[in-house]
Amino acid sequence: MIDVKNIRKDFPMLNGKTQQGHPLVYFDNAATTFKPQSVIDACDKYYSEETANAHRGDYDLAFKVDKEVDLVREKVANFIGAKKQEVIFTSGTSMSLNMIAFGFGFKFLKKGDEILLTEAEHASNVLPWFKISELTGATIKYIPLNKEGKLEPESLRKVITKNTKVVSVAQVTNVMGFMIDIKEIAKITHEFGAILVCDGAQSVPHMKVDVKDLDCDFLSFSGHKMLGPTGIGVLYGKYNLLEKMDPLMSGGGDNARFDMCGNVAYLAAPAKFEAGTMNLAGIYGMGAAIDYLNKIGMNNIEEYEKELHSYAISKLKDIKDLIIYNEHADTGIITVNVKGVFPQDEASYLNSHGICVRSGEHCAKLLKDLLKTTGTVRISLYFYNTKEEVDVLIDALKNGGNFLDAYFD
Ligand SMILES: Cc1ncc(COP(=O)(O)O)c(C=O)c1O
Repeated sequence: MIDVKNIRKDFPMLNGKTQQGHPLVYFDNAATTFKPQSVIDACDKYYSEETANAHRGDYDLAFKVDKEVDLVREKVANFIGAKKQEVIFTSGTSMSLNMIAFGFGFKFLKKGDEILLTEAEHASNVLPWFKISELTGATIKYIPLNKEGKLEPESLRKVITKNTKVVSVAQVTNVMGFMIDIKEIAKITHEFGAILVCDGAQSVPHMKVDVKDLDCDFLSFSGHKMLGPTGIGVLYGKYNLLEKMDPLMSGGGDNARFDMCGNVAYLAAPAKFEAGTMNLAGIYGMGAAIDYLNKIGMNNIEEYEKELHSYAISKLKDIKDLIIYNEHADTGIITVNVKGVFPQDEASYLNSHGICVRSGEHCAKLLKDLLKTTGTVRISLYFYNTKEEVDVLIDALKNGGNFLDAYFD
């Protein structure tokens, strides 16, 4: 069970008011989440008590930072069921996916090979692969989604071939919010000798994700979508793949030696992929975010969000002229439109009631044919949201007054 009332006290942003003086209702959690005080304090600790670079200094202060980086790496590894050396700190999901595409895809793909994606993917899981296709001659193919916009494992069987080398899909897509059966997708992918890249940006913050159980080859996620700071994220990779692939970025800290003839001896993973000074305050904050999520419990978070989602759907269904695109989503992502109202206008109207939602294409620009619209309004929930906040949204939608009513019958 989640004690939302008490939890909310931990988040300074949840006590905020909007410019118009409304209590803030934050329903844009798929974009980024609010941070508890413990995360803010952890970042602050790095700046006010423990500033030094990592893996470079021979003094106590630097050693403290090294120890913390190591500890947070271990926390992340335990959080996703990985080994410590399989966890690479990146700037976020986009960076992690680019590292896979360029470090693995560019090195190993060739003309005739296939990369399988879906139309529901975020730009960060599409555009790097477009570039790899252009550079290597590999072909991009799309696994068909079902009528509701969900990826079913059987659909993968219809398009995968012996030429498929990479399947790259989100565990939870950021507009449709369906939870994909990654375990089954991994099984099919591996039967064909391909690798599975799992975009965990919208799953890792909301449910228990265990890479060993899923058997995905790579997993990417962002700290800022799971209570952590911006500019920190994770790339998980099976160690044998990390050993084979190239770093996208190289420089200080990722090598044992190099010479004037251009010979480089890279360090083993994870160091091989962490050139340059890392976002150390971000790593401190990420550790605190994981502690906080563990304290609440990922299963509790998933369960609570499902309950809040069902509550919101039951209320939203009563609103005349509201189109719900993903009523059966398994997570807290609800995508809607008010008939005849431009999504940006709807979001601006809700903003005037202190409600933050996202409007537009949400970086999933291939979805427009399936949704038959280029823009939607996305309401995305997290475990600190309440039924009362959902009621505020419902009231605002029902009382569109001069604005939204103008379009109703
Ligand atoms: C499914 C999905 N993948 C990737 C990303 C990119 O994440 P980031 O902006 O943190 O790199 C997002 C962000 O919204 C997302 O929802």
